[in-house]
Amino acid sequence: MVDKAYDIPHQLEAGIRQMAEDVRLPAPLSAEKKSALIQHIKQLLKRENAVLVAHYYVDDELQRLADETGGCVADSLGMAHFGNTHPADTLVVIGVRFMGESAKILNPEKRILMPDLDANCSLDLECPADKFTAFCDEHPDRTVVVYTNTSAAVKARADWTVTSSNAVSIVRHLHEQGKKIIWAPDKHLGRYVQQETGADMLRWMGSCIVHEEFKAGELQELKKQNPDAKVLVHPESPQEVVELADFVGSTSGIINYAKKSEAQTFIVATDLGIFYKMREAAPGKKLIVAPTGGTSPTCSMCAHCPWMAMNGLENLAAVLETGSNEITIDENTRRKALVSIERMLEFSRSQNIMSETKRVAV
Ligand code: 13P
Ligand code: SF4
Repeated sequence: MVDKAYDIPHQLEAGIRQMAEDVRLPAPLSAEKKSALIQHIKQLLKRENAVLVAHYYVDDELQRLADETGGCVADSLGMAHFGNTHPADTLVVIGVRFMGESAKILNPEKRILMPDLDANCSLDLECPADKFTAFCDEHPDRTVVVYTNTSAAVKARADWTVTSSNAVSIVRHLHEQGKKIIWAPDKHLGRYVQQETGADMLRWMGSCIVHEEFKAGELQELKKQNPDAKVLVHPESPQEVVELADFVGSTSGIINYAKKSEAQTFIVATDLGIFYKMREAAPGKKLIVAPTGGTSPTCSMCAHCPWMAMNGLENLAAVLETGSNEITIDENTRRKALVSIERMLEFSRSQNIMSETKRVAV
């Protein structure tokens, strides 16, 4: 049985959309400026004993720099794992706020910096900790499972944190133990997990503003035009889009599928930042971004997270130079949130669900 836990008030949703439209994007840079900044960042990383921990959705040049300097480019599970096992004193998390917070929760002794602390996530913003805590308190019989795209305070109220790499396995495990679940905040991923596991889940009705835009009608048209293409979909996408998929999975899962599949063409319903690693993993294969709106099957205007796009070379160099934009979390919240994240990491290790993270010697 699936039921609604919390509908997102229209005003909150509208405010978040406005925030996404108003993000501070890095200014365009000349090739010379870019190359000078890259050299400078490489020196600063050595000086600060720092390492870059980047998500697949950030700009190609940031992913390349993370790889070249011995950092990692990964999905959110891989980022948490890498940061937790790397000996650097400072982790510079190039992604969005919850990723920096997860790094701090796991590594209180390390300094965690982010190029822009306003880089957020609609799922995180749609799940205010006070409302969530009150709701959980009304249902003490339920196990609380939250997606990693949430604040430290929300994770502190949860029994388990999950990512898209392990959500199905963890909820299945809980369902097999007869547990009933509160799920937050992504309604689409929650629906998908419920369908895969049959678990009894009360769902928060948040959504990702990027994946929500993928359009099933236009995707069907695109499939007709590319009959040999495989459709790869992140489970934050709407149900009608997920139903057209040949593969549904996390960002790492999507990359691995493209690498291993015999197919030569893929239509991809996730942020187009992923194409950098997909091209590396599946060279020569054709990658098409799934349609995001309008009536044309080729419309691909917006498959890019505005908050991920806030990360750039200039703000990255600035935080390494000055030590600004440090993530801090109060110790009580951190300790509680750690319990739910460590449960996930332990479960993932025991089931061998660890995404690949590539390390290159500096
Ligand atoms: P992954 O865990 O698959 O990297 O997803 C994180 C995310 O924010 C997707 O929008
Ligand atoms: Fe959040 Fe969506 Fe951006 Fe991922 S793509 S960080 S879920 S807003």
